[in-house]
Amino acid sequence: MKNLLVTGGAGFVGVNFVRYVVANQPGVHVTVLDKLTYAGNRINLAGLPADRVKLVVGDIADPVVVNRLVAETDAVINYAAESHNDRSLRNPAPFMQTNIGGTYTLLEACRKFDVRYHQISTDEVYGDLPISSAQQPEEKFTTQSRYQPSSPYSATKASADLLVGAWVRSFGVRATISNCSNNYGPYQYSEKFIPRQITNILSGRRPKLYGAGANIRDWIHVDDHSRAVWEILTRGKIGETYLIGANGEHSNREVLALILKLMGQPADAFDFVKDRPGHDARYAIDASKLQQTLGWQPQVTDFEAGLERTIRWYQDHEVWWRDSKATVEAGYRENGQ
Ligand code: NAD
Ligand code: TYD
Repeated sequence: MKNLLVTGGAGFVGVNFVRYVVANQPGVHVTVLDKLTYAGNRINLAGLPADRVKLVVGDIADPVVVNRLVAETDAVINYAAESHNDRSLRNPAPFMQTNIGGTYTLLEACRKFDVRYHQISTDEVYGDLPISSAQQPEEKFTTQSRYQPSSPYSATKASADLLVGAWVRSFGVRATISNCSNNYGPYQYSEKFIPRQITNILSGRRPKLYGAGANIRDWIHVDDHSRAVWEILTRGKIGETYLIGANGEHSNREVLALILKLMGQPADAFDFVKDRPGHDARYAIDASKLQQTLGWQPQVTDFEAGLERTIRWYQDHEVWWRDSKATVEAGYRENGQ
């Protein structure tokens, strides 16, 4: 695989994958197809060698541009999506269009040109798990878990996964799927939990915790996600689904407490705000299939150290987040959050 088409490669998780490929896979060329929505930024690709990475601005739901690019690639890795739950609650329309319509368009092109396809999905397709307690034995998502998405975002991602499965079975498309847990790291747009709190503190605002902050997410550093996707793309079995996670479960309250400590803030310097409707309680990934079949293991196993590096990145890249921050916060304010 020498020529890759990485859709959504100017967004958070996608650009980290592009950077991983450039740094670790010599001889591989990447074309990024990205619509540059509010979440995509061409600056994210700055500094990458022009002879290895090319950006095409376009929509994954546009068959003209998609067919042209898929015809000349060895594999498509589909990161492009509308990705924020809170936005999907305010307006689901672009989620339907991009996450379902876009995946359909890419799959049809891969069918036409017999190109390898990898779908980047999320553990949120499985809905949520109960918060474990003495009475509630610990349970994790596996590839056998039932699809029962809670939000318009996760429902559209689940729909896309089902399309991939059908295109494999009915049309022989050579596809795989990975469902990853919550990512953190550089280049994450400031609307998401971790960068929102870091940039709130850096801009003199108070961090905001939804509800009681008891919801649990299973955090993975984005670099570990990128390495896992590379393994699946190059050595994964066609038609299979792989779950990616790094045993990084923390309640939102714990994560915020760590951010406050690392940034030298008092432990109570935050506000509780209105909860998200339908808020998933807990996500937790059982990644044993990926570990056993492909030998992948997470490398960033110290969450505090990973978080500290991420905080430093936002401190060092204020120009990157400063302009969009006010818009993001205005949206949250309107929503009482
Ligand atoms: P993001 O919102 O930061 O980036 C999405 C990118 O897709 C942006 O660059 C945007 O411009 C682009 N895009 C949106 N609509 C497009 C369209 N119609 N055509 C072309 N490009 C389009 O999202 P992210 O957090 O980087 O997530 C990327 C992928 O990873 C998504 O599929 C998401 O479901 C999945 N994922 C994310 C996480 C996470 O924690 N962030 C976890 C698991 C899975
Ligand atoms: P988010 O980053 O939106 O990811 P997801 O909804 O995909 O898990 O949110 C992560 C968790 O943080 C989720 O439980 C909602 C919560 N949250 C807050 O408590 N405060 C915030 O300001 C945001 C954006 C999220």
